[in-house]
Amino acid sequence: MAETSPPLSQHSAASITCVKKLSESPDLNSIPSCYAYYANPAETMASDPHDSVPTIDLSLLTSDNPDHRSKAIQDLDKACEEWGFFMVVNHGIPEQLMRAVIDVTNEFFNLPEEEKPEFQPQNVLEPIRYGTSFNTAIEKVFWWRDFLKVFVHPDFHCPHKPHSLTEVVTEYCKRSREVVRKLLRGISESLGIEESEMEKCLGLDSSLQIFIANLYPRCPNPDAAVGIAPHSDHGLFTLLIQNQVAGLHIQHKGNWVHVTPRPNSILVNTGDHLQIFSNGKYKSVLHRAVVNKMKARISIAVANGPSADTVVSPAPRLLQTQGCRPAYVPMQYKDYLLAQQSNQLNGKSILERVQIQD
Ligand code: OGA
Ligand code: NI
Repeated sequence: MAETSPPLSQHSAASITCVKKLSESPDLNSIPSCYAYYANPAETMASDPHDSVPTIDLSLLTSDNPDHRSKAIQDLDKACEEWGFFMVVNHGIPEQLMRAVIDVTNEFFNLPEEEKPEFQPQNVLEPIRYGTSFNTAIEKVFWWRDFLKVFVHPDFHCPHKPHSLTEVVTEYCKRSREVVRKLLRGISESLGIEESEMEKCLGLDSSLQIFIANLYPRCPNPDAAVGIAPHSDHGLFTLLIQNQVAGLHIQHKGNWVHVTPRPNSILVNTGDHLQIFSNGKYKSVLHRAVVNKMKARISIAVANGPSADTVVSPAPRLLQTQGCRPAYVPMQYKDYLLAQQSNQLNGKSILERVQIQD
């Protein structure tokens, strides 16, 4: 017998554990009120569709040809400074692996609810977290997304189902770390900091890497809901891929810009800790995910940070060579992460806490 879903009025915030199931309710013509999200009407979409995120060719960044390499480093510096978002091509991650990671994530979201690992709402640093919205324990307005967040480095964790998840996530995250290391080498050069010094200051050998799968199911009122509200990412670099369905907006020169990644590229954005380490040269950028009526969207965001125990501050070498004062107070990455994940995610509010006011 077909299961009848409860009337929408009964979908109270407390009963919602998964938006996918809600979106599959046959009588869902509008969103429950706990999803009603009001975007700031003062924020507009960019009018110039040609102003698009830059592209970085990773093969040039690692080229033996010094001219190619220095041009690529300049491009990376400019992309981080002007946009904080760029598309990486020739990144070396096989297209098949990128597809596999999206497919297996989809399988995970399709598992029956009772088979999914338990979400532990009281501990936001739990290594495997499946959940909905961002932090339902404290949110008044929910986001239209379900997520799986897994700590994959330095210690590897992963749900044991579906069976190929571990293998695919291991490989994808390993390859992603290689991409990040290449980008960070470029950054160390453009900041004039020895690579070994950067590695030491950020504890890169035991860098914290988090695999985040986002599912944005179809939404009957996409304009009245949000997938992820505006925020910046906490780490150094986040790598993002998606299932061909658009939905990412980034803030650029005061407007929201719709991002349509090139096929087979990886979208990279700078995070709060790159901003702190570079003493404000490379600012993390606000971005959000919107939802749509037609197709479910899946995105995979791999967050790459310093090591959890590292106390991060602006690079001493940089302050020395530039003769400037630190603009941020030192803070352990783990504490920063805890502060961000246990509050309502709100723009760059956590970064503002460590910023030194002039
Ligand atoms: C994130 C994020 C954007 C997207 O997971 O931090 O910003 O397009 N995702 O899914
Ligand atoms: Ni993000």
